[in-house]
Amino acid sequence: MNNFIFENATKVYFGKGCVKEYLSCLLEPYGDTVLLAYGGESIKKNGVYDEVMAILARAGKTVVEFPGIMSNPTYKKVMAGAQLAREVQAKVILGIGGGSVMDCCKAIALAARYDGDIWNDFWERPGVIDFEPLPLGVIVTTAGTGSECNGGAVITNEDKKIKTGRDYPKCNPKFALMDPTYTYSVPQKQMISGSFDILSHIMETYFSGPDEDNVSDDIMEALMRSVIRNLRIAIGNPQDYTARSNLMWASTMAENRIIKLGKKCDFECHQMEHQLGDYTDCNHGCGLAVLHPVYYRHICEAGKEKFSRFATEVWGISPEGKTTEELARAGVEALADFIKEIGLPATLRELGVTEETDLKAIADSCAIVPGSYKKMTHEEILEIFKECF
Ligand code: NZQ
Ligand code: ZN
Repeated sequence: MNNFIFENATKVYFGKGCVKEYLSCLLEPYGDTVLLAYGGESIKKNGVYDEVMAILARAGKTVVEFPGIMSNPTYKKVMAGAQLAREVQAKVILGIGGGSVMDCCKAIALAARYDGDIWNDFWERPGVIDFEPLPLGVIVTTAGTGSECNGGAVITNEDKKIKTGRDYPKCNPKFALMDPTYTYSVPQKQMISGSFDILSHIMETYFSGPDEDNVSDDIMEALMRSVIRNLRIAIGNPQDYTARSNLMWASTMAENRIIKLGKKCDFECHQMEHQLGDYTDCNHGCGLAVLHPVYYRHICEAGKEKFSRFATEVWGISPEGKTTEELARAGVEALADFIKEIGLPATLRELGVTEETDLKAIADSCAIVPGSYKKMTHEEILEIFKECF
């Protein structure tokens, strides 16, 4: 294994009833005023809002609401949240939602305690956070990003046409409450695309060096099998507690830094998807589903040993009678078949891309990562986009 330092500052409370049991005492150390941040109407429809408001009222908290955090949260929304947090002198932020709410809250927590321009100093380029952001706690309502246990926040700067994420350990939530029953009401399409996001996070880490025998790769194979198995069960029965709890925890495990230990990580597909998302506002998991098989056909040859291991260990494909190349390709096609099976899109058209979309501009705006088995060029990214179209 490569050298590493590991820490995860988020304390997780997982399981049915955890919000009722722990929220009140978790907020106790933070003073009176709570900035309650959430997205659209989902928490009002499924009862989570009422449950949380009752707990906050009993705890005597002053609640200031910050609703309307959109999917693919924008820098403008972050700044509006930070301004409100300052005005009301919020002592803690409580975010209820999925990746978009959690990411937006992390950026608000920074901006509320920083006089400079957080985009310039922390998103445009990596910065050093030498101050304490406003404390943040989260209640997770959908599985996918794993944002609850890292410092990552992916923000869209509409003016600059850049969607980008940074992971600052200081932005890790102080606590994360994860009740799998809260995810029962997630629309089927979102459950599936979120689950594909989990799978993508694992694959983006798995398909990168070093490839010597290491614990991370073994954990990742088990996680990928678990996501595939449990997603199939959850599609059949969305209220299967075991399946939903496994998906929820797999989502955290994929992004709580554990599997990345000692790995270079790829994440080129995420770079491409983020820029597509910036131009089209497409769903994150759906964008990844379109890109992954095509990207992997491009890099398969360069990482054939690992792709053939993926074929046997994750998809149970027999190596008998196959060359390494054939086995590697069979692994990629098994992934493409799975994407079809679970009903995710396979073309950019399905995400709203049209003949008028400037794919070259999107390709040129993608960051090129160092960890891929085959380093991309902007020309090859454009080729991938065209093949996906
Ligand atoms: O807004 P509401 O009404 O709450 O509805 C949301 C939203 O429409 C709905 N939803 C969430 N929980 C629900 C529910 N509906 C019914 N019942 C529930 N219990 O789901 C929709 C999507 O929510 P969103 O938070 O946007 O989805 P997701 O969790 O996939 O987050 C996507 C964002 O996270 C970023 C993505 O780029 C994207 O901006 N990512 C963040 C990462 C991180 N911080 O580590 C890593 C990821 O790779 C990703 O890039
Ligand atoms: Zn993702």
